[in-house]
Amino acid sequence: MRKSMIKFSMGLAMAATLFSGVASAEEGAMNGDVANGKKIFTEGKGVAPPCMTCHGENGWGTEAMGAPRLANLGYPYIVKQLTDLAEGRRTPSGPGAVMPLFAQQLSPQDRRDLSAYVNSLNTKPDLSDLAGIKAGGQPVGERYKGEAIALYGISGKVSACQSCHGYNGRGAAPVFPVIGQQKYTYLVNQLHNWRDQSRANDPYGMMRAIAKNLTDDDIINVAAYLAWAPRETPGNGLVPETTR
Ligand code: HEC
Ligand code: HEC
Repeated sequence: MRKSMIKFSMGLAMAATLFSGVASAEEGAMNGDVANGKKIFTEGKGVAPPCMTCHGENGWGTEAMGAPRLANLGYPYIVKQLTDLAEGRRTPSGPGAVMPLFAQQLSPQDRRDLSAYVNSLNTKPDLSDLAGIKAGGQPVGERYKGEAIALYGISGKVSACQSCHGYNGRGAAPVFPVIGQQKYTYLVNQLHNWRDQSRANDPYGMMRAIAKNLTDDDIINVAAYLAWAPRETPGNGLVPETTR
């Protein structure tokens, strides 16, 4: 009895710390200047080129570069990533290795402005061309197998992605980003990065704990499913109001 009480209050304390960090990011939503965000996104700042050269004019990412969709991923999540990138907590390799330098060109207010801008984009989804990627020689997984992982997890090994990221990965702000309808190549890269711990900016190691039990096949299967996963709940054509 006592033991479980301690466990319970530790859980509460953990949740409190987790949310106090992001609460301050959320307050920034009030000061996000969309016009300044747009200016930097389209014109760049300092040595950072326009963000849209890699993240796309509409914020839907670029497959070949492994550049993610930024449109509507969640305001506090984007603020956190730009801060982590600028402060050395996230150090990508490959084409994204330039991101820390670019994030350092931005003031804390710029980061909030950019996040407010990309979160305001109501652009048409530009989803990964899975057939084209496969034709280009990159392995593409099987969507029905990935759907099982996203919705139910792998028994005894991996929690369902939706238990944190929301149905079909549509996001649960402030902590859990949108991963549904994210670019396929980016999803595959990040799952590998979490698994080999080269990305380690996840609160409490939550994603590293998930990814360490995913096989290469699980990764391409779940990425193939998520890249096209609809936001809508089946049987209900309404897109739910999320807190992002
Ligand atoms: C030269 C191409 C390039 C430019 C220009 C660029 N980015 Fe990126 N960005 C990337 C790539 C590639 C990644 C993926 C990094 C990785 O693999 O972890 C990335 C990752 C990010 C992420 C992390 C997103 C997530 O889902 O976690 C954010 C946020 C971001 N960029 C914002 C920006 C902003 C803001 C600008 C403009 C100031 C910008 N980027 C300019 C290529 C670019
Ligand atoms: C226990 C909660 C939890 C579960 C379950 C979970 N995730 Fe995550 N995931 C997170 C958190 C927290 C983050 C944000 C990390 C950060 O702040 O950088 C994240 C981030 C990610 C990212 C990076 C998104 C981006 O834009 O860079 C991907 C990809 C991802 N998760 C995929 C998955 C997949 C696939 C599954 C199911 C196999 C899954 N997650 C299950 C907690 C979870």
